[in-house]
Amino acid sequence: MSPRLGFFDSGVGGLTVLRRVLERHGSVACVYLGDTARVPYGNRPPAEIRRIAAEVVGWLRDQQVSTVVMACNTTNALARDVAEGQAGGPVIGLIGAAAAMVETRRVGVLATPATVASAAYSASIEALHPGALVVEQACPAFVPLIEAGDFSSDELRQVAKVYLEPLLAASVETIVLGCTHYPLLIPLLKQLLPDAIQLVDPALGVARQLDAVLGVPRSTPGDTLELGQCRFCVTADPDGFANRATPWLGARPEVHLQRLQS
Ligand code: SIN
Repeated sequence: MSPRLGFFDSGVGGLTVLRRVLERHGSVACVYLGDTARVPYGNRPPAEIRRIAAEVVGWLRDQQVSTVVMACNTTNALARDVAEGQAGGPVIGLIGAAAAMVETRRVGVLATPATVASAAYSASIEALHPGALVVEQACPAFVPLIEAGDFSSDELRQVAKVYLEPLLAASVETIVLGCTHYPLLIPLLKQLLPDAIQLVDPALGVARQLDAVLGVPRSTPGDTLELGQCRFCVTADPDGFANRATPWLGARPEVHLQRLQS
């Protein structure tokens, strides 16, 4: 049976992961669920995040996906075990992939409040790089602004400066983008950071991990994404999602409304 991937996130953030996978592997059969009725996940309590993860992964399993890609760090950090229990097949996550991409000893992590409170990034990076300094910074304003279509306003720039300040004060050499929405801010972050700081997008590691499922990757990444085998579903506002997804996917996707909550 050919592989069919199930991606999920609270909104458009997981598209940054889907994009890396399509660039590396070309056309991929997949279902993408953006849980836009409940975005953001990262400002919610752990028990609620675990309940949401069970529901969303259960729905993906019912869509007959063969592998689940947790394209959301918050559920990775707090509900990986829940996803593994519900998926009925392999589950691919971001946090281990990110830790494996770190090459320096002073590491900053930008993530949602729930991810930072879980300390999952510190644990994963310190396990692979004993003695590394890890500074995690919660960024509660980022996901709501990005979901509102803001990638560069003065307000966003001001909050970004505040979030980066403790990382710069700790002289980090690498910053891990520990929320799948944050790669959408790379142009802004590059303006605010010294060139020497490396930005790590865990999605690249996830795309590489999927070689085991999807086979040998393309020799060069495709310029145009092949979306023909992708089905996009959201739990609210399909038109808004399609608008926000268009620049990132390079084409306007057809988006279906899917009710999940009972
Ligand atoms: C969120 O929806 O708050 C989080 C997405 C993520 O953590 O990647």
